[in-house]
Amino acid sequence: MLTVAMVMWPVTSAWPALTDVTLTGLPRWLPWLSTSYTEETEVERAAMAARVGLVTRLPVCPQGRGRFLGSLCRHLSNSRRAIPRREEATAVCAEPELQETTKGKTFSEVQKERREQAQRSILISCPKKIPEKKLLKHLCQHGDITNHFFFESFGLHAVIEFSKKESIASLQDASFIPRGETEFPIPFKSRFFHLNLKNPSSQTSNVQCNNQSSPLNADIIKTLCNAENVESQINTLMKILQLTEENIRLRYLTCSLIEDIAAAYFPSCTIKPFGSSVNTFGKLGCDLDMFLDLDDIGKNSATKTEGSFLMEYQVKNVPSERWATQKILAVIGECLDNFGPGCVSVQKILNARCPLVRFSHQASGFQCDLTANNRIAMKSSELLYIYGSLDSRVRALAFSIRCWARQQALTSSIPGSWLTNFSLTMMVIFFLQKRSPPVIPSLDYLKNIADAEDKCIIDSNDCTFVSNLDRIKPSENKETVDNLLCQFFEYFGNFPFNKNSINIRKGKEQNKPDSSPIYIQNPFEISLNISRNVNESQLERFVHLARESAWILQENKDQSSKSSTEPWGLAALLLPSVPNKSKAKKPGRGQANEAVKKLLESIKAESRATREKTTISTQS
Ligand code: GTP
Ligand code: MG
Repeated sequence: MLTVAMVMWPVTSAWPALTDVTLTGLPRWLPWLSTSYTEETEVERAAMAARVGLVTRLPVCPQGRGRFLGSLCRHLSNSRRAIPRREEATAVCAEPELQETTKGKTFSEVQKERREQAQRSILISCPKKIPEKKLLKHLCQHGDITNHFFFESFGLHAVIEFSKKESIASLQDASFIPRGETEFPIPFKSRFFHLNLKNPSSQTSNVQCNNQSSPLNADIIKTLCNAENVESQINTLMKILQLTEENIRLRYLTCSLIEDIAAAYFPSCTIKPFGSSVNTFGKLGCDLDMFLDLDDIGKNSATKTEGSFLMEYQVKNVPSERWATQKILAVIGECLDNFGPGCVSVQKILNARCPLVRFSHQASGFQCDLTANNRIAMKSSELLYIYGSLDSRVRALAFSIRCWARQQALTSSIPGSWLTNFSLTMMVIFFLQKRSPPVIPSLDYLKNIADAEDKCIIDSNDCTFVSNLDRIKPSENKETVDNLLCQFFEYFGNFPFNKNSINIRKGKEQNKPDSSPIYIQNPFEISLNISRNVNESQLERFVHLARESAWILQENKDQSSKSSTEPWGLAALLLPSVPNKSKAKKPGRGQANEAVKKLLESIKAESRATREKTTISTQS
């Protein structure tokens, strides 16, 4: 339907490039190669595309591009690393970019920059085959493009970042709302467009696309088996799983698109991502937690005290803040359901402890949880961001533990009596605070070195801690991350959960205040236990698997890709556990599983082939 409408759109002689494509605002419609639209040569592009399988994005500035290409060359020349192509792209792009974006910046600075970038960006659903350069040329009519990339999610999509917000207004003016024959469009002019080709048959170039989802576990295990040692396995795992630069951009853009809808009711509201999307612990495929912040509305209304009158807004009052949150989320949920382009399966879960609207943003492929009045969760995200940025071992260890826990079914995407990623990350932080010397400081230390402007009290909870990373002394601890991994399992495999609680504020265990199986003190709402949902049997499984994992790591301490024909080190820990057989003899617990058997076979075959090749080359 949309296509018919688009073809009818007139072409103006002032815009010669417009003869190929038309854009339409996307009323109710439904995850990459990317490059910047600069003058990079076809040779560069072809070489990269051919060797990497995908190029996600080239920085526009010459320095950025140099760094990118440098890291690409280093990566390509590193023949020992047999990472499957999809992960290579992630590894190449994500780390330098992530470091570049966050290095030395406070959490608020990063958020501000990203949000501003998102406000200059649009999302376009595209036909499968599109002439990339022509599209960019077409869009350049509205202003300079600083960045763009393509991805797949229920069809091909593009994210285009203009250098100025005004370009979007110009594009919106030039786009139209399609008229369907049997359906009527909701005339909402969003920043989510649909691109039509006027003459599809002549436009047959394919753009390369990246998959945003997490790689298959079997692929991860194979990749890890080729690493040199456990330390390299841990770092590789993080590179494979961490959010890519583009994925982060898309998360901010999605929030920004939802903000446009919420702003129809609350014009100064903001919708900010929090949780693993922003706290540096996010893994590809994680949900997108959003926070509707209405606080700025109150802040802007400066009270004028001069004169004889005091003017205030006439407002509707409700009995409590929770009530207000529920009402607001109910309305925004309705809006998303009825008018939100790309928003599907909207569920209003308003009676939860933290009321939320859950929906799928089909175009980005994100499962979204929208909450309001949740500033403490935002502070928790900032705290994790600080810990994640302080020492590279923190994120590396947390990724391994979170991935291990998921493979062992200790965590789940379904709410229940299992540990959550948030709780596991707190355990990693606590463990690292307990090392001697500590790898990271306690929250109380971060509070003591805070500036006056860091002071933050939310609902009478002290959420103060330093925001400037430069004020925190680097750790004197020199332990390797593989040793830390093994020690983590030892530590929690023998932790006295029955009497002690985990307290990252003090960086020390405390007496447990109640009888819950595991007690992890909420760092800000200190009377709460963030793991109160975990039952005795889940804790027992965690302890049992932690002990078993420590045993496996110690047992294959000297193993490597050269000596092993079976998954070793971290890879052995990621073999799926067999239900009800977790007490099976170590370490072959996963071998009964058919998928694992196949994986073992393919690793053995690869290993045999490598040995044969080595023998031939040594003999010749
Ligand atoms: P993923 O599993 O990758 O989504 O990790 P996540 O850290 O995003 O966890 P989740 O989506 O469950 O929750 C989002 C954020 O809400 C977390 O990062 C915390 O800031 C906060 N949060 C989650 N669970 C709790 C809890 O039990 N207590 C408190 N105080 N905050 C929580
Ligand atoms: Mg989350």
